[in-house]
Amino acid sequence: MSLVKKIKNAPKKIKWLINKALRKNFSNIDKKLWDDEYNKGGWEFLKDPNELERIYVAKKMLRKYPADKKIFEIGCGEGIFFLEMDKDDYSYFEGMDISEVAINRIPTTPNSYFTFADMEVYEPKNAPFDVIVLNEVLYFSKDPNALLLRYTKYLKNSGVYLIGMYSGDPRSAGVWANISKSFVDVDIEPVSDGKKEWIYKTVKLKP
Ligand SMILES: C[S@@+](CC[C@H](N)C(=O)[O-])C[C@H]1O[C@@H](n2cnc3c(N)ncnc32)[C@H](O)[C@@H]1O
Repeated sequence: MSLVKKIKNAPKKIKWLINKALRKNFSNIDKKLWDDEYNKGGWEFLKDPNELERIYVAKKMLRKYPADKKIFEIGCGEGIFFLEMDKDDYSYFEGMDISEVAINRIPTTPNSYFTFADMEVYEPKNAPFDVIVLNEVLYFSKDPNALLLRYTKYLKNSGVYLIGMYSGDPRSAGVWANISKSFVDVDIEPVSDGKKEWIYKTVKLKP
């Protein structure tokens, strides 16, 4: 049995202790699982032309904000969103993901920075940002509302979150409800490729 499988099957208390001992800037167990997924090609479908519909909508929503904006993307994967941006859509783009495999596939530019880390503990390098983006990632957080509250200190006062989630994911309705405790909708865009549907929103902290 592989080490990762042994750890996964270990009693809860042991798992917690191992995780705590290994944890630096990320959970090594989660990192290994996501790295395996990317190595197996499990997320290749995110690059399908139909899937890109959600990225185009997100990009259009961002055009409301100044061209020289600073963007931070949490759970950026292989940089699909970053790679669809035109270079005059941002002045600086920072991205992070728990998967080192995914991060290593992103071609960097002088005004961008990508790293692998756990979103639950990451501290961005070059805050504050105009927009913090979460594309299909918020349902992987232990507590989405608490996660957004923690990152709010890295947003400018005028800053917003741009969040997209697949409506077919059974967790998405719960996540939208959870973050509405502290955040209010600014813009809402339903997205459809004819078969799949997503909701994209910009949200900001309640006054
Ligand atoms: C469905 S994929 C979406 C990838 C990308 N945002 C996109 O839309 O193409 C979910 C992403 O969340 C990342 N992820 C999951 N848990 C994470 C964590 N704790 N910290 C950072 N990234 C995480 C995964 O590695 C994966 O790249």
